[in-house]
Amino acid sequence: MKNEAPEVLISEEQIQLRVAEIAEQISEDYSRAEDLVMVGVLKGSFIFLADLSRKLSIPRTIEFIAVSSYGSGSRSSGAVRLVMDVRGNIEGKHVLIVEDIVDTGHTLKYLIGMLKSHRPASVKTAALVRKAESAEVEVTTDYLGFDIGDEWVVGYGLDFAEQNRTLPYIGIVKPTDR
Ligand code: PRP
Repeated sequence: MKNEAPEVLISEEQIQLRVAEIAEQISEDYSRAEDLVMVGVLKGSFIFLADLSRKLSIPRTIEFIAVSSYGSGSRSSGAVRLVMDVRGNIEGKHVLIVEDIVDTGHTLKYLIGMLKSHRPASVKTAALVRKAESAEVEVTTDYLGFDIGDEWVVGYGLDFAEQNRTLPYIGIVKPTDR
């Protein structure tokens, strides 16, 4: 990728506003639920999870999970493999999976099924962005930041070849930079 900063798709201010709104909604929805566990999907979710979790007004604990998807290119193939499971016991707890992006939907679908096998009280999902047109499987995103088109996006946890994850905004990688 060239050195110039990616073009802004979603600004830092827009992200922070939307994250605060989602946090308020989650705090309300889980106000009577004990044991909310936020499960961040490595690596991309780390910034969204950090901001979202700190804006909640309810008790919560944090876990991480890591997956890798087989297949070449930028798209997940549908064959998702668990690389690292949650460390704590989530049985009987309310699980909120936190993702940076839902693209084909394969990763989230796999994770919902996998985490349900731990017998939690419930499983819901939060994602900062979703590529609605790219969906290959039906999967519910209970808390969504933004729907975007089929662009390659970076920033706020999202990368292109591991670059630009820590940009405070979401930017677009031009086809000429790929
Ligand atoms: C991204 C993202 C999701 C997955 C979504 O992870 O964090 O986990 O892809 O794609 P899907 O809906 O097509 O399954 P990525 O493989 O880029 O890894 P990273 O989070 O470590 O960057």
